[in-house]
Formats: sequence, structure tokens, C-alpha cells
Amino acid sequence: MNETIEFSATVSTMTRDGVLVVTIDNPPVNATSVDVRSGLEKALAHAETAADVTGVVVTGAGKTFIGGADIKEFGKPAMEPTLPDVIETIEGLSKPVVAALNGAALGGGLEVALACQYRIASPAAQVGLPEVKLGIVPGAGGTQRLPRLIGILAALDLITSGRSVKAEEAVTLGIIDEVAAGDLIEAAISAAFALAGKPLRRTGELNVAAADPAEIEKVSAKILARARGQKAPAEAVRLVTSSNRPLAEGLADERATFLTLRDSRESAALRHVFFAERESSKVVGLEGVEPRPVETIGICGLGLMGSGIAVAALGAGYSVIGLDQTSEAAEKGRQRIIGLLERNVAAGRLDQAGFEAQKARLSVTADDADLAPCDLVVEAVFDDLTVKTDLFQRLDEVVRPDAVLATNTSYLNPDEIAAATAHPERVLGLHFFSPAHVMRLLEVVRCSKTAPDVLATGLAVARKLRKLPVVTGVTEGFIGNRIFSAYRREAELLLEDGALPHEVDAALEDYGFPMGLFAVYDMAGLEIAWARRKRQATTRDPSARYVEIADTLCEAGRLGQKTGRGWYAYPEGKRTIDPEVTAIIEAARAKKGITPRAFSMREIVERMLAAMALEGEALLTEGIAARASDIDLVMINGYGFPAYKGGPMFART
Ligand code: 3HC
Repeated sequence: MNETIEFSATVSTMTRDGVLVVTIDNPPVNATSVDVRSGLEKALAHAETAADVTGVVVTGAGKTFIGGADIKEFGKPAMEPTLPDVIETIEGLSKPVVAALNGAALGGGLEVALACQYRIASPAAQVGLPEVKLGIVPGAGGTQRLPRLIGILAALDLITSGRSVKAEEAVTLGIIDEVAAGDLIEAAISAAFALAGKPLRRTGELNVAAADPAEIEKVSAKILARARGQKAPAEAVRLVTSSNRPLAEGLADERATFLTLRDSRESAALRHVFFAERESSKVVGLEGVEPRPVETIGICGLGLMGSGIAVAALGAGYSVIGLDQTSEAAEKGRQRIIGLLERNVAAGRLDQAGFEAQKARLSVTADDADLAPCDLVVEAVFDDLTVKTDLFQRLDEVVRPDAVLATNTSYLNPDEIAAATAHPERVLGLHFFSPAHVMRLLEVVRCSKTAPDVLATGLAVARKLRKLPVVTGVTEGFIGNRIFSAYRREAELLLEDGALPHEVDAALEDYGFPMGLFAVYDMAGLEIAWARRKRQATTRDPSARYVEIADTLCEAGRLGQKTGRGWYAYPEGKRTIDPEVTAIIEAARAKKGITPRAFSMREIVERMLAAMALEGEALLTEGIAARASDIDLVMINGYGFPAYKGGPMFART
């Protein structure tokens, strides 16, 4: 290769065999920031005019091709050239341009590749248009060029789901032309060389293949139903299904739609969530702290929660030793875990070889001593302080002194559990959500004595389990259940003040929760919260307003869906408003002399959001949550708060 030319701080080129190899080097993900765009424009202009250049290869430095447009530039004044400008130049070039996908080509990155005449990828590459996940549509030709390459139905699937596909699948779909078996750049140069002087196959000039209108209609309706009123997927459907029109017209429509959505509240919320997820694992004081190595995880208690944790751990490649009280209980646990793995096989999430490998990494026992090889033990036994402290004291006797001990308690004080052990510094909380192999959220509880490398271990394991870890301090219910309690309390206050359960639920569902609070309550059962209220009765502040309605329902045997009655009635399993509940609520109001008033959906939501935000503020003041965005992540990933509203703390801004 001859000399390097730097066209900008992030774009440089070298020429080989008449092919100009353009490399984008803009860590961490080669996002198409203004410096990248202007560097590309200059490099392409050079390619067009340089007589010794017959073709171009575009590639990325590092492990990403291009991670997309630079999201950090959103909301700032537009800077020329825009990405569509650069892409138009690529497609308009009189010489062939080959995209050499060395890694992920996402969003604007894939749009750059789509405008090239040939796409060749390394086996590790993946491609996708994840814009809908950020509340936008592709804004640089994705909705118009992808259907020209792979047809409307396949493009609809990819663009409205935002999922990315691996190189092999991308070849099958027709998004990329070839997976390079050997050196990617060599192969790309050969491809550009071979295309030189031949008629150019411009993606934008291809026709969109005809597809069955009835099928398009059916698929679109399904996508719109799933979008639950979110704008981006609906606009993506509109743009993709109308892509069979002149390219320039489709591109102009797409760009205008992209710009409107980019400036919307929905997109700001989803971008907030994107950055919040990356921020959450950055924990003050843990910089440079090495986690302890973990290969074998012990799980105590193989009920629903323990089995779910085991499935997550096996799936992440850990060896698992499950402990239960008797060998019969342990064997039952093993069966339950295998049943869950089999379900993964049936759903196509796990192949037979993977199933066998996971099964081979699982053993169960009723003998504490068998946990000796564990690097980490997670307990998921009955949520009772004596049961848990007794278990941890027994574990002290059998595991290495540097093995980490984690409690999955929801409401007990993990500091008290830690204090009962010989090495409290190795104890932390790992609060999984049920079902543990499905739910992404994991509250990582930093106890008062937890050592930094123990906390780092908790975070590292969480990431390997593909969970979203959020660090919380010790408080009753941690971040999630503290906010949830405030939310529930406000809902019950609303009942006393004049709203009915179905009105509260309708307002929440209209806001974007998948299910209203009282319906959830009925599904989960009312008895656990009732038992807690009874436990707390003696310590409750007598001057605080207390709503007795839930207690009255429980006393009447209305424990939720499983008893056929709760906040609603369930004749033939169908949730219906129950006049008996309305009467109980009216009686409670009358007892306190409250004159009920009507609430609009908006008022209901505002009160609920305000209650959550207020409790969130308290968690920040108390130092339980490190940042407001962590609270948002907990509520979105553990409690059904709609991501496109950004979480309760974002929503108040
Ligand atoms: N813009 C700005 N910053 C970005 C970014 C982007 N598109 N993508 C990632 N980053 C940042 C992250 O915030 C993070 O920053 P930090 O180190 O300060 O926390 C850093 O890059 C590394 O990101 P990850 O931790 O996610 O790194 P991974 O290696 O795990 O994943 C990735 C890399 C797969 C590229 C992943 O970052 C990703 O999915 N990025 C977003 C992709 C995306 O949504 N692209 C579409 C953008 S919108 C668009 O292109 C519009 C167009 O149609 C006009």
C-alpha cells in the first residue's frame, strides 16, 4: 500500500492496486460524527477525481464498522455535510464502492453500506437498523434502500423490530453479498478491483420486488398493534410499505419523518434510556477494581426463583450446583430446571448440543459440603431472616473464605444477614426479578460492608448473565419496591379520593403500562402485601393516612385472580368491574367523610408519576440510588414503566 492520506481526524486512506481503502477511526464505535462525514466526503471526492483510483473500499478501524449516527449530536444544530449527503455521494460515484464490514454496521452504518455496490463482511459482523429503539426511523435511506435489496416484508421485519442479524443470516437475506473467509480487506480490494470498469449496480436504482398486498397488510397490522401507539414503528411501516416509488421522493419523506421524530419527546426518552443503560454499570469507587473470578455458582433453594437463576447461569456458561433441603427437593429442582431448559429448546432458543452441555454443567445436592467448589453462592430460600442467616452461617463452614455470598432477599435487611456471617465483606444482594431467566433487571445490593471487588464481581456476573445490573444501597424494598410501594399507595389514595380501580388501570394502560396496577395486583395475589401490612401495623405512623380498602378485600377472601375475586371479579376468567368492590370503596370513603370527586386520566397519571418521582428523590437524597437514570431503568425493566416515556424521573423533566 502506498502513503496514508488523512482527510480528517477520523478518516484516512491508502491506495492499493488502484483501490482507495478508506478507514473510519472514530472510537468507541465509529459513529458518523461531523468529522467522519466531512472526512468521507473529501475522501470520496478524491476517489472520483484521482486518475489512479479505480474503486473504493470503506471499512472501520477496531471491532465496529459504524455503530450508526452519532446520537450525542442529536438535539444540536445540524452540521454539514449530513449523512444523506455523504450517502448520495457514495451512490453517485462513478467508481465502484465496496463496504468491508469488519464488525457491527448499525443504523447509519448499515445505510452507508447499503449505498455501496457490494458488501462483504467478516464472520463476526452483524447488521441492523435499530433506529426504532431510539424512537426514530432510519434517516439516511434505510427505509428505501433495504426494501430494494431484500423486499418489503423482510425489510419491515428488520426495521420495525430493530433487531440485528449475524453475517450468515444477512447473506441469506441478501443484505450482504459475501462473508470473507480470509483477510477481509484483501477480499474487499479484490471485489472492488473486479467491479472496476463494469456497469455499477446502484441499490437506489433497483426495483422493489412485488409482494402480496394482503400479506403486507396483515404484517403491518400486527406491527402497529405491538407498537401500542408509539410513533416510530408506525412511521417505519408507512415508509417501507410505500418504498415502491421514485427514490428521491421516498428519501425526502424519510428524512422529514426522521427529523420530526428525532426532535420528539419519545425519542429523547429512548435516547435517555440508551445512555442510562451504559451509565448504570459505572460505579463510583470501582474504577480499576478487578472482579473475583467466577466459574461455579451455587444456588440454594431450587423453587421457582432458584431454578430461574440456575437457567440464567447455565445459559451464560457457568457450572451450577443447586442445593435444597432434601435430596427429593433437590431432584425436583433439577427436574424443574431441566424443564425450563427444554422449553428453551422447544422455542428454538437452545439447540440440542447446547441443552446437553448445560445439563452436564448442572448438579444438585442436599449436602452443604458439596458447595465447596463454588466461587459464588446465591441464596433464593424462603424470605425469612432466621432461615437466611442460618443458611449463610452454614455456608461459612463449607465455601472458601474468598467465595462471594449473595442473597436474593426482596424485603429483608441484607446487612443483618451479612452481620451474622464470618466475612460480611463478601456478602452482597443480587435481587433477581421473577422469572429470573427472563427478566433483565438485576438489583445489585451494596451492603454496608461489601468489599469493592465483591461488588465488582456481582456486576461482572450480572453482565455475563446478560442482565441489566443497577446498584442499590440497603433500604426496605431497595430501589424498585420502594418506588412501587409509593406508586401503589398513591393508587389507593386515589380510590379513597374518588377514582375506581378500573379507572386507575385504564389511565395507566393509556399511558403505556402493559397492565394497570390493580390488574397486576390481582394477578400476583394480594396476600403477601397483606401479610407485610399486618407485620408493619405496630410500627406504622398513626398520623399518616392509611387506606384500609386492600385489607377489607383480603378479609373478605378476595385474594386476587386465583381466588376468582380481588380488585375485580373474574367470572369465567374474564376480568370485570365488581359492584361489591365499588361498595367497599364507597364505604371506606364514607367512613373517613371523604366526598369523592371525578379524576381525568391525565390527573390520575400525573398523581401516580409525582408519587414515584418524589420517592425517587428520597432515594437519591438517602444515597440509595446513585443517579436518577438508575431509578428509571429499574422501573422500566422491572415494573412495566413504558421505556418510551423514559422512566418516572425522566418523565418529570
Ligand atoms: N452515537 C454515540 N455514541 C454511541 C453510539 C452512537 N450511535 N453507539 C454507542 N455509543 C457509545 C456508548 O454510549 C458508549 O459510550 P460510553 O463508553 O461513554 O458509555 C460507547 O459508545 C460504547 O458503547 P457500548 O457500551 O454499547 O459498546 P458495545 O461494544 O457493547 O456495543 C454497539 C457497540 C453495538 C455499536 C452499541 O453501542 C450500539 O448498539 N449502539 C447504538 C447503535 C444504534 O442505535 N445506532 C443507530 C443510531 S441512530 C442512526 O444511525 C440514525 C441514522 O439512521 C441517520
